[in-house]
Amino acid sequence: MVERVEAPIAATLRNGQAVTIRPLAEHDREALLQFGRSLPDDDWLYLETDLHNPDIIDRLVNAYAAENWRQFVAVTEIGEIVGYSAVRRLPGWSSHVGDIHLIVRKDYRRCGLGTAMAQAIFDAARDLGVAKVIVEILQEQTSGIAIFERLGFKIEGTFSDHARDHAGRRHHLYILAYHII
Ligand SMILES: CC(C)(COP(=O)(O)OP(=O)(O)OC[C@H]1O[C@@H](n2cnc3c(N)ncnc32)[C@H](O)[C@@H]1OP(=O)(O)O)[C@@H](O)C(=O)NCCC(=O)NCCS
Repeated sequence: MVERVEAPIAATLRNGQAVTIRPLAEHDREALLQFGRSLPDDDWLYLETDLHNPDIIDRLVNAYAAENWRQFVAVTEIGEIVGYSAVRRLPGWSSHVGDIHLIVRKDYRRCGLGTAMAQAIFDAARDLGVAKVIVEILQEQTSGIAIFERLGFKIEGTFSDHARDHAGRRHHLYILAYHII
């Protein structure tokens, strides 16, 4: 059994708001649903995991204690979820690799929350025991690329026209990677 590092992290953002970054819990279903609903359309077009979909939210919350998965939320003082990040161990021959996801509510961006959550999920990936972490990210997601490159990730691959959004437009997909071991 892998020991979990799950102490909540208190952070004061550059907009003066206080948030706590902590593991997703079973009781977060309604707040995560609200968070998903709050995401702008152009965000969820770009997200592989559609957080607007209540079935997806159920799947995430049901997996709050899954052995191969670490999920974190950023929660405000009034209990709203304003950020979500996750790292999941891939199956099969990539079971030594963790896949990271990260998203912050629009009105909380550019305040350092994305960076803080990326660091937390990166630490959780080490705790998960994976040897390598990747982020699948569209070419247009420049702030996400900036965050992970700052953490030392490098572009390891580009898949041309690999991702299709809900409007049918195609996008180049980057695989950003960091080798832990
Ligand atoms: C990526 C994302 C999580 C960043 O969250 P955030 O809270 O704004 O992140 P930070 O405030 O820590 O900003 C990190 C850096 O990104 C860059 N950045 C952020 N927004 C930017 C923008 N609109 N234009 C240019 N650079 C930007 C900056 O370098 C910024 O650091 P700085 O503010 O100190 O200059 C957020 O934009 C988001 O949820 N996007 C949609 C989903 C996504 O793209 N996820 C990443 C792939 S998994």
